[in-house]
Amino acid sequence: MKADKKAAPTIIVIFGGTGDLAKRKLIPAFYNLFLDDRMAKELAIFGLGRTELDDEKYREIQYEAVSEFSRSGKPEKEKWDTFKESIYYFPSNINDEKSYTDLRKKLEKLDKEWGARANRLFYLSVSPKFIETVTQNLKTHALVKDIKQDRIIVEKPFGYDKASAIELNDMLTKTFHEEQIFRIDHYLGKETVQNILAFRFANALFEPLWNRNYIDYVQITVAEQVGVEDRGGYYEGSGALRDMIQNHLLQILCMVAMEPPTSFDAEEIRNRKVDVLRAVRRIKPEEVHHYAVRGQYGEGWIEGKKVPGYRGEKGVAEDSNTETYAAIKFYLDNWRWQDVPFYLRTGKRMQEKTSSITIQFRPVPHTTFPGAQADNLMPNRLTINIQPQMDIRLRFMTKRTGLDMNLNPSEMVFNYDDCSTQTPEAYETLLLDAMLGDTTLFMRSDQVEEAWDVIASIQEAWGNRDSLDFPDYPAGSWGPENAEALIARQGHVWAINIHQNEKKK
Ligand code: BG6
Repeated sequence: MKADKKAAPTIIVIFGGTGDLAKRKLIPAFYNLFLDDRMAKELAIFGLGRTELDDEKYREIQYEAVSEFSRSGKPEKEKWDTFKESIYYFPSNINDEKSYTDLRKKLEKLDKEWGARANRLFYLSVSPKFIETVTQNLKTHALVKDIKQDRIIVEKPFGYDKASAIELNDMLTKTFHEEQIFRIDHYLGKETVQNILAFRFANALFEPLWNRNYIDYVQITVAEQVGVEDRGGYYEGSGALRDMIQNHLLQILCMVAMEPPTSFDAEEIRNRKVDVLRAVRRIKPEEVHHYAVRGQYGEGWIEGKKVPGYRGEKGVAEDSNTETYAAIKFYLDNWRWQDVPFYLRTGKRMQEKTSSITIQFRPVPHTTFPGAQADNLMPNRLTINIQPQMDIRLRFMTKRTGLDMNLNPSEMVFNYDDCSTQTPEAYETLLLDAMLGDTTLFMRSDQVEEAWDVIASIQEAWGNRDSLDFPDYPAGSWGPENAEALIARQGHVWAINIHQNEKKK
């Protein structure tokens, strides 16, 4: 990772420039990087799409988008007027070769004007079926020439299973070297997720305890309140396992479980993360039901509003068997984590939006305190709240003030709200890193393939057998009862439920 980051002269080309991602995430992120003085003066952002628009119209659309979606709010006129000069619209057809030759001429013209060959960043925000056409054309029409200067960002889904991910990797490496390919997982750009590395490796206190001798179990929860929104078509072919577990949750698992890297070199960090995925015990197909639970939301209530069940959403089959909830118990076969369960769960239409990591430490080996006080004892717990609440909490026991020896759980809290600086959006971090050529927070080909391998038997088991009882949790709940049973067998409960209910009391 580099310090004091500032991008070199760069041309950004967004395939899918009129799409939702460009409006909600990409252009607002580039604008905030510009405000933060991270962009070079020589900057051009080309939005590509089939719609007939001119630069002015495209800039207006992006102005509205930035006003609505940027964390910095509505742009100041003077700032926007400067920034918008770098935005261009380029009407084009992905399948039309002429689009690529015309684009190349535009880029070369800018290089001439600037007196130097700029870096080129191609962002593929298009359906996976177009990736091959685009990359081949980028190569054939010499838009991509320089290993050090030309890069491609690929959005998820990265494949559908291990075989298709390998195929996609093989295809990409016909045009690009691995160091030019940035497979994005936006969870890795989240401030709270990056902070896991600082928390673990910039403190001497926690690492000695960070293993099977002191940790009882780990839980990773990513709960969403939203349903599938207007993405029913995509989601039907994906489901929670592919959409969230294979990428975001397994990446968080890697951050929690990895060995200390010897340096902050991108390859070193990515090597340590692949080690974790390799250590994840593969679940035998016939044992999937012992380790994994799926669910699908039915209709229910979210914040006082009646919402439809998944099967009633747009683009979803009436008898759909796609899971909108997944909970899995993983074990890691290595010295550090042998026998420590890692519980991962994610779901849509849950009671609350909350993402967090719970590290539950073992109980004290012997209770010094008598009777009722001993019953009050709670094991230490570290909670890393990723979003929307952003904090790190360490629970420990204390004596309640007074003449008697009464025990009470207390918390030490690091709260991001107490920091004076605004938290950058995940896309800001990731786009800047991509412009700098820093691959640390991006997924390498072997990571992606290994992550698919981890879930392969679950994919197979769930794919081969329809669920008998979908829908099995109402919108606005904490998921199916089976998920409670999954971890109750070990005498555990989902930590966040308790936390949320406590908050409500
Ligand atoms: C995306 C998934 O990768 O992540 C979506 O495709 C999901 O289904 C989203 O809603 C969640 O991201 P965040 O940042 O809102 O937690």
